[in-house]
Amino acid sequence: MKSEKIQDLGLDPEKLPVHIAIIMDGNGRWAKKRLMNRVKGHEKGSKTVRSIVGAVRELGVGMLTLYAFSTENWERPKVEVKALMMLLKRFLVSERDELMTRDIRLNILGQKEKLPGDIQEETDKTVDMTRNNQGMVLNLALSYGSRQEITLAVRSLAQKVLSGLIRPDEISEEMISDHLYTRQMPDPDLIIRTSGEFRLSNFLMWQAAYSELFITDTLWPDFTKDELIEILINFQERDRRFGKVKCST
Ligand code: FPP
Repeated sequence: MKSEKIQDLGLDPEKLPVHIAIIMDGNGRWAKKRLMNRVKGHEKGSKTVRSIVGAVRELGVGMLTLYAFSTENWERPKVEVKALMMLLKRFLVSERDELMTRDIRLNILGQKEKLPGDIQEETDKTVDMTRNNQGMVLNLALSYGSRQEITLAVRSLAQKVLSGLIRPDEISEEMISDHLYTRQMPDPDLIIRTSGEFRLSNFLMWQAAYSELFITDTLWPDFTKDELIEILINFQERDRRFGKVKCST
């Protein structure tokens, strides 16, 4: 979107976040309110995924990370897990053209190896196909958990110490960041959680150190581009100090 258009929305194009991450919560409650099966909520939630990916791309934000399936979500009833996997597959296949047209690169964060074989195939295909796209990065967090991610990083660093590649005192914050699924990616500037819960739920806990958090009561299936813009306006009004003080007086 042109910068004048972004200004018309009340946004400063210079102060847009580089990376937005979203905890998409409330699909089940959305369905329950309508006396529907939870799966219907996930179906409507998938439509919201499509529209919000498009909106973030249009606004010119470089990276969007969506928490689509956590390491804990495997414990949900089998039918629900199956339905979520089916929706995911549908998204990966049906959105390929859209991702290519909009120049969006798809990336997966999480335990890819735990996903069913057909989902792994479709993710690999979409990731490969979109590899050279430059317009935006879409990270789907799938079978993702921060503690699992940090555990893997610790194991990998311990292995490097053991084999003499690095000394323990050489381990730095940057080195830890470089052993996470998000290696080489900017930390999220803004983390949005829908449906009113005030928690991170094992999502990007290392990367969220200085993220601005925004909780909205809106349930994910009802989340819209207009609300996203309101949140971005609020984000631009915040004073991000990263633990420092702003002026020298
Ligand atoms: C949380 O709602 C949502 C999820 C566990 C999954 C998110 C999945 C989608 C939005 C659809 C599929 C994803 C893609 C990328 C196509 P909840 O079920 O925990 O809601 P509740 O807290 O109201 O029960």
